[in-house]
Amino acid sequence: MAGTADTRDLIELRPMVETDLDRVVANELHAYAFPWSRGLFSECLKVGNECWVGCIKGDIIGHAVLTTGAGESHLLNVCVQRSLQGKGYGRELVLQMLARARASGADALFLEVRPSNVVAMQLYDSLGFTEVGVRRDYYPSHLGHEDARVLVLDLDAYFHNPEI
Ligand SMILES: CC(C)(COP(=O)(O)OP(=O)(O)OC[C@H]1O[C@@H](n2cnc3c(N)ncnc32)[C@H](O)[C@@H]1OP(=O)(O)O)[C@@H](O)C(=O)NCCC(=O)NCCS
Repeated sequence: MAGTADTRDLIELRPMVETDLDRVVANELHAYAFPWSRGLFSECLKVGNECWVGCIKGDIIGHAVLTTGAGESHLLNVCVQRSLQGKGYGRELVLQMLARARASGADALFLEVRPSNVVAMQLYDSLGFTEVGVRRDYYPSHLGHEDARVLVLDLDAYFHNPEI
């Protein structure tokens, strides 16, 4: 059973497969106000993006989607099952994505985040991500649209000093 940040089980990462999508989409629906569709996950699997599920004792508790090319990775999605948020699993999943990006030869990891997503912003800030741009009206929101902050982490610097 997952416990506090000190006692919780570690995430076991494995590649996502099509038959995971019922659970992945259910987690996505509960975690986001504007979730990805099943079709979007299927498309990511089809085009060969790195799609991962994070499991605890075989149970999928989170997922992440990464794409890498030309020395850059983009973290397209990272999500932890709503009932297990705030226990350190999100940080662990993102750290595993940094390692995956590095293993795929990327020097930098980019991502987009809503400024209103305080938890995600705090997490990325604590890892040393910096803002490199804003995409105006990028996301749908309950008020119409919301900007995206474009963040980047220098993986060379991070892996020389992961305590940043
Ligand atoms: C964002 C998300 C992946 C973070 O995962 P998590 O398991 O909830 O977060 P963690 O417990 O690993 O905490 C990581 C950091 O986030 C921040 N954080 C966590 N909970 C927080 C809260 N309630 N308030 C403010 N910051 C918080 C802290 O900086 C924390 O680090 P710390 O515990 O060392 O202080 C997860 O909340 C989630 O799936 N949210 C919905 C989907 C989403 O927004 N994805 C990101 C899109 S860019």
